[in-house]
Amino acid sequence: MNANANPTPDNTAKTFSPGLEGVTACRTRLSEVLGKEGKLILAGHNAVNLAENNTIEEVWFLLHEGRLPNPAELAAFKAKVEKLGVLPADEVNLIKKLRGPEPLSAFRTALSAISNKRGYKPWLNRPVEEVTEEVIALCALAPAIVEVLHTGRRPRVKTLNSGYAERYLWGVSGKKPSPEDLRAVETYLILTMDHGLNASTFASRVTASTGADVGAALTSGVATLSGPLHGGAPGPVLDMLDAIGTCENADAWVRAQLAAKIPLMGFGHRIYRTDDPRAMTLKRVAERQNGPRIELAKVTEQAALKALEEKQIQRAAAENKPVRTLRVNVEFWTAVALEHVGIPRNLFSSTFCVSRIIGWGEHIVEQIKDNKIYRPLSQYTGEMPAE
Ligand SMILES: CC(C)(COP(=O)(O)OP(=O)(O)OC[C@H]1O[C@@H](n2cnc3c(N)ncnc32)[C@H](O)[C@@H]1OP(=O)(O)O)[C@@H](O)C(=O)NCCC(=O)NCCS
Repeated sequence: MNANANPTPDNTAKTFSPGLEGVTACRTRLSEVLGKEGKLILAGHNAVNLAENNTIEEVWFLLHEGRLPNPAELAAFKAKVEKLGVLPADEVNLIKKLRGPEPLSAFRTALSAISNKRGYKPWLNRPVEEVTEEVIALCALAPAIVEVLHTGRRPRVKTLNSGYAERYLWGVSGKKPSPEDLRAVETYLILTMDHGLNASTFASRVTASTGADVGAALTSGVATLSGPLHGGAPGPVLDMLDAIGTCENADAWVRAQLAAKIPLMGFGHRIYRTDDPRAMTLKRVAERQNGPRIELAKVTEQAALKALEEKQIQRAAAENKPVRTLRVNVEFWTAVALEHVGIPRNLFSSTFCVSRIIGWGEHIVEQIKDNKIYRPLSQYTGEMPAE
């Protein structure tokens, strides 16, 4: 090339994929989302089976070790998580000072502050076993952190040997949960524990890929949840059901939203082109709970699916493009199930965090074990300097 020619942007070999749609950015053995079949696999197991039959600790161990634990391993892992989940008094005091109007923002700050206080260092050039213990320690604290942020007091004393899910629900609801409520929450927490390379998991892996400390990498994951498009929809779903009010109003209400180009919370997904298996499982949970919202939720779901389908068919015909299938996602039925067990709606995003933090942690460890710093390209659309 002539050295005196004006420079031009080097966009020749760059494929631009908005939102990285269709781009594969890492390898993982942790989870696989089969969008066409509507299946979620967690480390070789069907997530729905795990959610309906197993405990958080069993599935956490599965993600960590690649296999389910035997009884002795489970007892040891459960005891370890329980012990690591106890906040020392000085950390309780630190968290109390961070309480504010938005519990998820406070959670993000608390996680970062505890990691800093404990002196967790960048993982680069440190033994992976040591860093892994820091990851598990921070994840184990999530239920207690949310409880302190919610109540403003140190965590209640719970029965010895209570599990991660029980400690969480007990802490935020203020009473020992019934077996039915505990199963509902455990089902939810397992279903949402890991889900491929979603926005928050990607953020955690990107931060970890720089050699960062694990507190920073986990905090990056929490930060992405402040946007309602990922993990933040269940609260707005309940607001929507409140606004609709009666079954008769559902159809007109959802159509008015769509006419105003406002997305319906709890619908649509980047990967699923059929039913989200997590949504279907939580719908069954909500049906078993049979609470006061169930009829309105079912009618709203059907009204929304019909209106979304009609809109997508019209758009596709007008723009000569394939019809995008839009179904209910996990967050719609999460809202109904979590409200029923007494979790307030301002804690829904934090509850998601209490689950997904385990997935982030395992992805961070995976990233650390086979690291390459993330550094994609950008297509330059600005001016070039004139020579
Ligand atoms: C989840 C979500 C962010 C996925 O986004 P995405 O993969 O980028 O999908 P797009 O935004 O490109 O949507 C594709 C089409 O479906 C429409 N669509 C997607 N979700 C929609 C929704 N909830 N309500 C109305 N229309 C929706 C979009 O308007 C777009 O239509 P168009 O092609 O005619 O413009 C999106 O579906 C959404 O905003 N849902 C509501 C929030 C929510 O429930 N989040 C929780 C996810 S588990």
